[in-house]
Amino acid sequence: MPQITYTNFEGARRTVEATPGDSVMETAVRNGVPGIIGECGGSLSCATCHVFVDESQLSDLPAMDGMEDEMLWGAAEDRRDNSRLCCQIRITPEMELRVTTPQTQV
Ligand code: FES
Repeated sequence: MPQITYTNFEGARRTVEATPGDSVMETAVRNGVPGIIGECGGSLSCATCHVFVDESQLSDLPAMDGMEDEMLWGAAEDRRDNSRLCCQIRITPEMELRVTTPQTQV
């Protein structure tokens, strides 16, 4: 079963089991993981699902599209090279992804 590990900006870590096909944002919200809001429900219009992906796993993910790239410039915390909007990351059957949430999403 896929697993996502969410680490907050203070280093507190939470690993949850995930369902293939769901997004990393949906999985966080459903499990009450703090630090991810997902205000727009995944329609790529809020940037409150900003995360920093473990750099060693970045290349395992499909590349972001132009809209996600554009939305990341509006995230509350400055984007980094490993920033993604996690509503756009679909969970695959073997995924064991590690992400860190920013200090603020709004
Ligand atoms: Fe709104 Fe990801 S949930 S952009």
